[in-house]
Amino acid sequence: MALAYATDLATGHSRDFALRSCVLAMRLVDGARFDDDTRRAVYHQALLRYIGCNADSHLLAAAWGDEIALRQELARVDFGDRAAFVEVFVRAITRTFTDASPAELAKAVERGLAEAAQINVPILSGHCEVAQRIAERLGLPEDIRESLGQIYERWDGRGMPRGLSGNAVTFPVRLVTLAQYAIALHEAHGFEGMTAMIAQRAGGAYEPELAQLFLADAERFFVGLDGPVDRETILALEPAPHAMLDEQACEEAYLAIADFIDMRMPFTFGHSRAVASLAEAAGKRMGLPAADIRDIRWAAYTHDIGELTVPVATWMRAGALTERETDAARLHPYHGERALASLGGDGKLVAALVQRHHEHLDGSGYYRNARGPDLSPGARILAAAEMFQTAREARPHRPASGDVAAAARLRAAVKDGKLCPDAVEAVLTCAGQPARRAAPERLAGLTPREIEVLRLIAAGDTMKEAARKLDIATKTADNHIQNLYSKIGVTTRAGAALYALERGLVQHGMSSA
Ligand SMILES: [Fe+2]
Repeated sequence: MALAYATDLATGHSRDFALRSCVLAMRLVDGARFDDDTRRAVYHQALLRYIGCNADSHLLAAAWGDEIALRQELARVDFGDRAAFVEVFVRAITRTFTDASPAELAKAVERGLAEAAQINVPILSGHCEVAQRIAERLGLPEDIRESLGQIYERWDGRGMPRGLSGNAVTFPVRLVTLAQYAIALHEAHGFEGMTAMIAQRAGGAYEPELAQLFLADAERFFVGLDGPVDRETILALEPAPHAMLDEQACEEAYLAIADFIDMRMPFTFGHSRAVASLAEAAGKRMGLPAADIRDIRWAAYTHDIGELTVPVATWMRAGALTERETDAARLHPYHGERALASLGGDGKLVAALVQRHHEHLDGSGYYRNARGPDLSPGARILAAAEMFQTAREARPHRPASGDVAAAARLRAAVKDGKLCPDAVEAVLTCAGQPARRAAPERLAGLTPREIEVLRLIAAGDTMKEAARKLDIATKTADNHIQNLYSKIGVTTRAGAALYALERGLVQHGMSSA
């Protein structure tokens, strides 16, 4: 669902598009009583159809300008209708060459259309290959990966890149293609328009029997599909047994998402991994509990997932952004948090860090203009690591800074009251820069274990609950708590809670605290 959120917006679809298509596709398979393996493949195909969409986005943008706008139009066009297809590309070129003379524009259109096949086929093949590879890293089985390699194929063989036809196109691809077009056409043309177009395209883009199955009861299949779809609805639709990822598989899934984000543009290659390794090292140096360090690393892997909502054409611009583009760009931490919200559980802590990765202590960051008290040690480390790593990478509007210049930039941000001095010092030391200050003291003079105990108490856990979460005997937990109380000079739970709040030791997303 996190990937579905990001790819919906990156491909110009509406919010919850993939989720709604999942509900519709599952209703269609339920009607036809398919086995669980088929239903599982349909379920994942609907949610993950576009996870390869990031591959070569910069090539699409270079050829056609705003690739999100282009994809939005393509989502409604019948790829077999050559005239409609050409029209979309002509409009894209016209958007890109707004200031060109009519003669220049005509030339650009001619050149663009001649290059279209040369550009589109290898790009779409890349999407399929990348989708399969990411699905493998997410732990999805072979049959699901096969379908993700066929996302642009169609019933009549006029799809891309391989021109498969009929039953050579897997069933989940045939069904989800129909479901997703039904949703997109419904948004663009209303219910009557949608059913008319599906009927007209049956036998071309869509398998005739499936189109018939849908059209026979389209109104019922569409009930409730014009609003948002919640997480619980989608979770309930997954055929049993549910695929679960253990800690190590989660690590690989987060890493796959990092690569999925970074491969969108050549200058961000490896960015998220680099931020993660810096932030992780700094977190260890500052003595944070192991669970915090894991959350920081996972947040670093995913921190820019919200950037997918902004066209590559914007990020690749060498000149200044327009006000509108700036607004869209500054909202990427918001979309990142929204995308990750569907993870639930510990994912909420990761999402809270992602939301804050461009915030500053003095309220000058974005998008919420949060201030110091709202920025946990983890959020401060992530912001510092992100700023250092980004400065070291080239961007279209500026060259890469050397390590020394990047370090100077961070120290200036500390002086201006933007970044946390301890977090910056830890990041710079871990990046091999000579230390300017003594090694940072442990947070509030506490050990990682003491911080964990303090947080549980502050959040209102009983001794028993705290012992269970820490995986120790209740008696041992009691000892830990008594020792902690005497160390920090309090005698009650409330006193400990206030102590934790005053020192910023409370994590974002903690329940009662
Ligand atoms: Fe960012």
